Amino acid sequence: MSAIESVLQEKRVFPPQAKASAGAAISGMEAYKALVAEAESDYEGFWARIAREMLSWHKPFSKVLDESKAPFYTWFEDGELNASYNCLDRHVEAGRGNDNAIIFEADDGTVTNVTYQDLLDRVSRLANALKKRGVKKGDRVVIYLPMSVEGVVAMQACVRIGATHSVVFGGFSSKSLNERLVDVGAVALITADEQMRGGKALPLKSIADDALAAGGCEKVKDVIVYQRTGGKVAWTEGRDLWLHEIVENESNQCEPEWVSAEHPLFILYTSGSTGKPKGVQHSTAGTLLWAAQTMKWTFDMKPGDIFWCTADIGWITGHSYIAYGPLAIGATQVVFEGVPTFPHAGRFWEMIDRHKVTIFYTAPTAIRSLIKASEADAKVHPKSFDLSTLRILGTVGEPINPEAWMWYHENVGRGQCPIVDTWWQTETGGHMITPLPGATPLVPGSCTLPLPGIMAAVVDETGQDVPNGQGGILVVKRPWPSMLRNVWGDPKRYQTSYFPEELGGKLYLAGDGAVRDKETGYFTIMGRIDDVLNVSGHRLGTMEIESALVSNPMVAEAAVVGRPDDTTGEAVVAFVVLKRARPEGDEAKQIATELRNWVGKEIGPIAKPKDIRFGENLPKTRSGKIMRRLLRSLAKGEEITQDVSTLENPAILDQLGEAR
Ligand code: WT7
Repeated sequence: MSAIESVLQEKRVFPPQAKASAGAAISGMEAYKALVAEAESDYEGFWARIAREMLSWHKPFSKVLDESKAPFYTWFEDGELNASYNCLDRHVEAGRGNDNAIIFEADDGTVTNVTYQDLLDRVSRLANALKKRGVKKGDRVVIYLPMSVEGVVAMQACVRIGATHSVVFGGFSSKSLNERLVDVGAVALITADEQMRGGKALPLKSIADDALAAGGCEKVKDVIVYQRTGGKVAWTEGRDLWLHEIVENESNQCEPEWVSAEHPLFILYTSGSTGKPKGVQHSTAGTLLWAAQTMKWTFDMKPGDIFWCTADIGWITGHSYIAYGPLAIGATQVVFEGVPTFPHAGRFWEMIDRHKVTIFYTAPTAIRSLIKASEADAKVHPKSFDLSTLRILGTVGEPINPEAWMWYHENVGRGQCPIVDTWWQTETGGHMITPLPGATPLVPGSCTLPLPGIMAAVVDETGQDVPNGQGGILVVKRPWPSMLRNVWGDPKRYQTSYFPEELGGKLYLAGDGAVRDKETGYFTIMGRIDDVLNVSGHRLGTMEIESALVSNPMVAEAAVVGRPDDTTGEAVVAFVVLKRARPEGDEAKQIATELRNWVGKEIGPIAKPKDIRFGENLPKTRSGKIMRRLLRSLAKGEEITQDVSTLENPAILDQLGEAR
């Protein structure tokens, strides 16, 4: 039975427990329904109310939603604010400067506490240093840093002076970094000498040097380097600067740059089904608002809670639920540099125990791999740690299978913590469809119901609603404040990717398939409907990996598909035709390793194919079109039952199927 089938047959229901509902921001289904009704009856009024409640405005907005240039929507456009002021100053001004903002735990276990006052000082110093280097409002700054306090400081310092940051995950290659630097038109790059992961120092600065040397990013004047390990790095005089040196003599006072609500807060690249990764452009007010509001609704975050989101700041989850959401509401959060398996696979549970974490947010892939580890070694099983402080658990990034959900619920949550399975995307800025911990009866594997104000629906290929129980295309019917505003530098692509004409041009196309339960209306996500793969919760375009493969001089042709994987959700399978004869045996193994490393260098290790199969050709129709659905079956090791009569070269199927 596939994961989706098992969710659709899932009959277990976990009603909210009394202690989760007591005092919760949304304390029951009645409260939820009241908010949904409020949003339905006065959509703009609903959003205006929470925007006034959640954010501190330098200049109040008078307009709410402007649809006159649809699908280029604006929200609260004439309002002015600063995201960094909202995340830092206002808490310090309220007398909360000594509260912990960040409990940072390094790879080696060293713990550092950073108060709101400390964080504000550090952000202001770096902001002043950036200004001195000529970085100004509207400029783009690329951040290529490990998980660190400095990462959060860098993001906040940019937005303090009105610069727009674009964070590139530290696992991306020099080529990927170069493409992003060029596309976004960066004027500065903030990186580190090295990063520490699992006890090992890995390069960053040298990769950044390669990225800059690859050309096209001559606008980058300054490369600011955070000294993490003290490892040796090459130095370009006049360009490279040590972070600790440039902030040393800066003032800890920096007046925030007040920007329009619509000013770009950040640009974050993500994979699409075609072409290069898209620069997803987010607005200041809308994205900050929803990050803050969902901290309250989805995580029911209250004073005294310790929040821990295990994502990296290189992904959207680390933006909304590390760098912005928790700080906007003045929370205390754990920020972790390392990996879940070092020095042992109980690290997460040990850290929850050590820091008395109350709300824990991670990815299904991490849970699945830790299940395996704790089955093999009782010492790293969650039961070997005191997890009694936990009250809410969350998952994000990919579907969670009911078995993993149950394990998480019983072993990490002791049967007492609601699990919020949050469906959302880089483009949505924050949670969209998710249970509410004090209200929603939970069904393992279902992300349940949309948040108030989010008009999610399932439609057919023409944009018409499908009845519950019938699968279809997941869309959002009305614009919402934290939605992306554009694809950086490519408005046409924004329009065609997200508001396609076939659906009428007004529905936001998420790119996922979904089905709603007949009785409850609960949503179950059925995975991407485009050529995007989800490996360990990371998005990869099949075309990007194919382009990387064919850029290798040995490769004539390549096709990439996904295959279900017990741990990573999906795994990358590549079908490759070489320019030379089809390799076999050891030669095939050796070339596969070479190509895997090649993809790692071209894109990043996350994109490396798990399985590479060589053929003399690919299955094609007589008109030359690659039949991907056949490749998907071959990748899974399935018997080919489809009609292959249109295939030019049916014999190829045996070759590609056997190649395992
Ligand atoms: C895609 C978005 C959400 C932030 C991290 C990933 C998949 C995400 C869930 C979930 C089932 C999910 C979807 C979506 N996805 N959350 N709870 N259940 N699928 O952001 O890299 O932009 O990827 O991740 O396929 O479209 P992203």
